[in-house]
Amino acid sequence: MMTSIIEQLHENRDISDADLKLLIETNRYDRELFQHADIVRKEYYGTDVYIRGLIEFTNYCKNDCFYCGIRRSNHNLERYRLSQDEILSCCENGYKLGYRTFVLQGGEDPFYTDERIYEIVSEIRQKYADCAITLSIGEKPYESYEAFFRAGANRYLLRHETADMEHYTKLHPAEMSLEHRKNCLKNLKKIGYQVGSGFMVGSPFQTTECLIEDLRFLQQLEPAMIGIGPFIAHRETPFNRFKNGNLQLTLRLIGLLRLMFPYALIPSTTALGTADPQGREMGLRAGANVVMPNLSPVNVRKKYELYDNKICTEEEAAECRACLNRRVSSVGYKIVTNIGNVRTLREQHPPKNSK
Ligand code: 5AD
Ligand code: FES
Repeated sequence: MMTSIIEQLHENRDISDADLKLLIETNRYDRELFQHADIVRKEYYGTDVYIRGLIEFTNYCKNDCFYCGIRRSNHNLERYRLSQDEILSCCENGYKLGYRTFVLQGGEDPFYTDERIYEIVSEIRQKYADCAITLSIGEKPYESYEAFFRAGANRYLLRHETADMEHYTKLHPAEMSLEHRKNCLKNLKKIGYQVGSGFMVGSPFQTTECLIEDLRFLQQLEPAMIGIGPFIAHRETPFNRFKNGNLQLTLRLIGLLRLMFPYALIPSTTALGTADPQGREMGLRAGANVVMPNLSPVNVRKKYELYDNKICTEEEAAECRACLNRRVSSVGYKIVTNIGNVRTLREQHPPKNSK
């Protein structure tokens, strides 16, 4: 009997570029893809869903990425920074709610010098020895990453955004480069961080070939986490007239990622929940196993608007936690509050015949 593309992908954790293209460009395989993705997800993670508490501590950014609502050229945005004490009280609140991973995310804000980040991370580390500390503060020199690691940070999120050189230049101003970003990811791994990367789906000028390159790049990088979400236009950016990324395509890529990277931590992202009220539930069913609710104080939430209509900007952390419990269990999964094992994608389970 012939094996289908999906069966091959399930079996080998890989298929040819031509087959990837087929799979990405039609909805013909979706049913089978999501079935297999859920089998693999259950095999590796059961029905467990990990939660990561996101603290968006600054919306100042020195970068000017064309897609992003907090880019420096957006002058129509009230900027804010959380103090060290405010950040700590987010952690305290989160800890009580069962969070054991804190994700400090912010724009590339020069106010937070290496010394300041070092101090913040050190204090969190000292108070929460049993928690993982994740940083998501962009591109930094090797030495800075190293210092933060010494302070006690153990994970770092830095999406590559697109692995296609030409596409990268269409999304970013000239002073940014894909090469530099990739180098940062390499450095983070070398230092010993558990690294998360990822890309937007349906960003302007993206082609199927770009997406295939994204997948191939991730195969090389072998990150512990892969975050993807649909591009959503922000009214105050140069991309305000572009159409949003497609929900179904995003789900399809989540399914694909689950089969290519069985161990990956794959968040069902806020962007997915913004694209559709049930987006995050659909993401979980397609193979995702992480949710990253917001722990930031409610009064700053709306100001961290990377794209239009971002959800969950009004709920207190506790309400958010209850809401997510319901959402996750509505599709048959269960939030777990342990720290969550992180294995490098293929180190424990190398692909059977990688080409
Ligand atoms: N639509 C969707 N995702 C976006 N991000 C930034 N701007 C947008 C947008 N307009 C994503 C980027 C970034 C992450 C924090 O948010 O991928 O890495
Ligand atoms: Fe934040 Fe529902 S997940 S309010």
